[in-house]
Amino acid sequence: MTEMPADEIDVDAVRADTPACRHLIHFNNCGTSLPPQPVLESMIDYLRLEASIGGYEAAEAEADGLARVYRAGAELLGCGPDELAFTSGSSEAWWRAFLSVPLAAGDRVLVGRTEYLANMLALIQVGERGIDVEVVPDDPRGQIDLDALNAMLDEGVRLVCLTSIAMSNGLVNPTAEVGALVNATGAYFLVDACQAVGQIPVDVEAWGCDFLAFTGRKFVRGPRGTGMLYVRRSVMDQLEAPTFIDGRSAEWTSETSYRLQPTAQRFELFETAYGAKLGLGVALDYALGLGLAAIETRVVGLAESLRTGLDGLANARCLDTGIRKCGIVTFEVDGHESAEVARRLRSVAINAGSLGLASSRLDLGSRSIAEIVRVGVHYFNTEDEVDRLVAEIASLR
Ligand SMILES: Cc1ncc(COP(=O)(O)O)c(C=O)c1O
Repeated sequence: MTEMPADEIDVDAVRADTPACRHLIHFNNCGTSLPPQPVLESMIDYLRLEASIGGYEAAEAEADGLARVYRAGAELLGCGPDELAFTSGSSEAWWRAFLSVPLAAGDRVLVGRTEYLANMLALIQVGERGIDVEVVPDDPRGQIDLDALNAMLDEGVRLVCLTSIAMSNGLVNPTAEVGALVNATGAYFLVDACQAVGQIPVDVEAWGCDFLAFTGRKFVRGPRGTGMLYVRRSVMDQLEAPTFIDGRSAEWTSETSYRLQPTAQRFELFETAYGAKLGLGVALDYALGLGLAAIETRVVGLAESLRTGLDGLANARCLDTGIRKCGIVTFEVDGHESAEVARRLRSVAINAGSLGLASSRLDLGSRSIAEIVRVGVHYFNTEDEVDRLVAEIASLR
């Protein structure tokens, strides 16, 4: 294998670890990425072990491998392993955090325009119960308006929610700057980092998060049905008890009492997909092995090439906003519905996605956009693949 500088990704090696690259151009990494071989193999091996010695016995035999998800997650996010819970995805993680925040009628909750769909549904629900949910406007460049946020923050604000990288836009919100403003008040800061973890460096301390949710299957390249929740150790005892608890989340201390786990384990249940949990740990370690700064550099470079390519086309328009951009590229093609563009690309073995207004009403609605084609490049994509995509879009006359 060719020696690469420590801060660069060995593209041949990561493509060799991703056999689908031989027959497929996969640009749907912001939907679901492709797991690297070590992730896939670890899960298959684990399932075989379960089948051969029994599920409980396999979990005991692989206890160290199963603990890896917390160690690797902690290294990736800059927190303690005890501050992480394993979940089935980002929405479960986000909802568990959200439901644990003590909210009463009259409390204010602030939210950015790029907030994810499931989070908005939660906020609409509590809005119906007397919580005052207010949307922070964007600044003229399309990211959350820090001055407006600062002006809206007062002691009535109990919670601020921010999606650091939206599903419908190529921007990276200034999450650390938002965190600094929120941390100067008594409000909790809940970050949806579903599209950020695995794509850019994320540090819960630098971002000032009380809670952070992410998923396994996107830029982390882990298995489907996995995610994690970070909960700051110092807020743990201020929170509402989780709605669902069992013998993993709590200890049954007497006939009429129980004690919640002191750690984020209180947000987990005993029964879960152990093989997938193991695979997520391997995926997190794989990302750590490449380095998040190197991943961001490569992803952003490829995404910029794609934006430049799209800018050169007469029949397409890039729709991304924001100052700091990421690997998600959104665009529209003249005379073609976005779902049809994705279908046409699929027919030539290029995976891309399409989204409509109902998946991101605040962001797309404020920009009067009904639908978008969405691509999420990853480090295993190449400039040649980007050129192929641009050529295919150009041919859609
Ligand atoms: C920004 C964002 N947050 C949350 C989610 C939900 O993640 P999950 O499906 O793992 O619950 C998504 C999924 O697309 C997303 O893009």
